[in-house]
Amino acid sequence: MKIRAMHALRLLVVALWAMPCSSGLADEGAPGSIERGRYLVTIGNCVGCHTAKFIALDGSVPEDNWFTGSPVGFRSQIGTTYASNLRVYFQELSEDGWLAVARTTTYRRPMPGWSLRVMSDGDLLAVYRYVRSLGPKGDRAPDFLPPGQEPPRPYIELPTPPSP
Ligand code: HEC
Repeated sequence: MKIRAMHALRLLVVALWAMPCSSGLADEGAPGSIERGRYLVTIGNCVGCHTAKFIALDGSVPEDNWFTGSPVGFRSQIGTTYASNLRVYFQELSEDGWLAVARTTTYRRPMPGWSLRVMSDGDLLAVYRYVRSLGPKGDRAPDFLPPGQEPPRPYIELPTPPSP
């Protein structure tokens, strides 16, 4: 009896160990898939900048509001930039168009253009498909303001980069 109980316990331990640990962890998804896109925009913090209040609320913003853009400016000596509403942006762009612009655009600070340039086609398409799957929502982010033009508050002041 005792031996049988031990055996059952051992089987249970093995079964638990072999279970995929999905709870609470993001699903990496296959290249090009919507799940993969969701995973990438979360670990790459695209969503943090491109969603109002996301960083202030430590990420607890309903997914329905993700990527609707941010009214918080990034001010530096090159002017003031705003993280775009990608829910609107991606609606107006084809997949091929996205692959081309992601690789060739020089973005203003602090948009990490370097991240887009090293992403595989599968990962870029996954990001595009995920954001598009959320559907269009919200207004465009404010337009870029040239240097010397006082942005409305709130804005974040970026330090002047040192000369190379
Ligand atoms: C640190 C904040 C920040 C992060 C992180 C960030 N972005 Fe941006 N993003 C911006 C800002 C600011 C702009 C506007 C840049 C400009 O004016 O040139 C922008 C612009 C863009 C644009 C151009 C949209 C348009 O209207 O032309 C795309 C596409 C984009 N980001 C995608 C991404 C993706 C995908 C990621 C994740 C890999 C990401 N961003 C991460 C701040 C950020």
